[in-house]
Amino acid sequence: MLYLTTKNLEQMNLPWHLCIDTIRRTVQVMATQEFSQPIKPYLLFDKDPSSRIIAMPAYVGGGIGMAGIKWIASFPGNHNRQLPRAHSVTILNDPGSGKPLAIINSPLISGIRTASVSGLMIQEYGKAHPFADKIIAGIVGFGPIGQLHLSMLTQLLGDRLEEIRIFDQNPDALHPIPEELRTRIRPVDSWEEAYEEADIFITCTISSSGYIDRKPKEQSLLLNVSLRDFTPAILSYTSAIVVDDWDEVCRANTDIEHMHNQRGLRREDTVSIVEVVCGNGLAKFPQEEAVMFNPMGMAAFDIAIGSLYYHEALKFGCGQELDE
Ligand SMILES: NC(=O)c1ccc[n+]([C@@H]2O[C@H](COP(=O)([O-])OP(=O)(O)OC[C@H]3O[C@@H](n4cnc5c(N)ncnc54)[C@H](O)[C@@H]3O)[C@@H](O)[C@H]2O)c1
Repeated sequence: MLYLTTKNLEQMNLPWHLCIDTIRRTVQVMATQEFSQPIKPYLLFDKDPSSRIIAMPAYVGGGIGMAGIKWIASFPGNHNRQLPRAHSVTILNDPGSGKPLAIINSPLISGIRTASVSGLMIQEYGKAHPFADKIIAGIVGFGPIGQLHLSMLTQLLGDRLEEIRIFDQNPDALHPIPEELRTRIRPVDSWEEAYEEADIFITCTISSSGYIDRKPKEQSLLLNVSLRDFTPAILSYTSAIVVDDWDEVCRANTDIEHMHNQRGLRREDTVSIVEVVCGNGLAKFPQEEAVMFNPMGMAAFDIAIGSLYYHEALKFGCGQELDE
């Protein structure tokens, strides 16, 4: 059984295109139903309702061929303890025998999976609604997830990415901006400045309730990664709502749950990521409307990205073999 540390994963530093392609292939497998992904149980703590540990098991068949589980803890109060908010461990199992193949210390896998899913949506959006030659991106919240999105955006869009406007309520959070990107990055003082002219806008905060209530730029892509930043008023400006999995995302106080309860948004009003990738799902929405993607985060994607890194680690001799 192979053990992979965060350092091992950082050393491998796989290109974003490879990770995004893995997510694409996973979505294609999901379209054939050759996968299994039970709804996630949430372990909650009565003394600290904002904290949770979530179990995320999945099997992905087809060309991915891996089973496993991610066990992910989110403790927003950890910032006061000088600890990261999220911790996770992923176990990969051989889908033929159930034999454990690897244990991965996986906050980075989880973040890479999240930014890769966003990258896939950017590729799909760009096919259905081509971006202008020069793209402005906005990111709100610049913790590990915001930083991984910046890295993905710059690699995926290259020189077409003209400016990235970043707002974090903690100005110190902007220190990890890589030197080579400083000319293209504009730190801004409010979410509005990051939002209003963005062709691609990404939420990566830990907000517990929606505050974004303004009209987005026409023909823009809103990646609502942190899921609790938009008010249901967004439905007054766009009907183009995409989800990864309606049953998962329409709960746990997400913006989608509020749109469902307050504005009557239904599953059939939305398009799933499988329909986007395998059924030209974005074509059904009016061209001028912003498209809003709401990903609850799918275990199948964690297992697929974990599997990609596991196989690359075997090739490069990374990681530590554990005795059985
Ligand atoms: N949808 C998914 O698949 C998925 C996957 C992983 C993480 N997430 C979510 O992404 C979010 C970010 O994760 P992280 O690990 O980077 O968190 P983090 O707590 O480490 O960092 C969050 C950053 O956002 C800033 N911030 C918080 N609220 C803000 C606000 N209202 N406006 C501006 N800045 C704000 C904080 O100062 C901090 O720098 C979390 O909500 C997490 O649950 C979603």
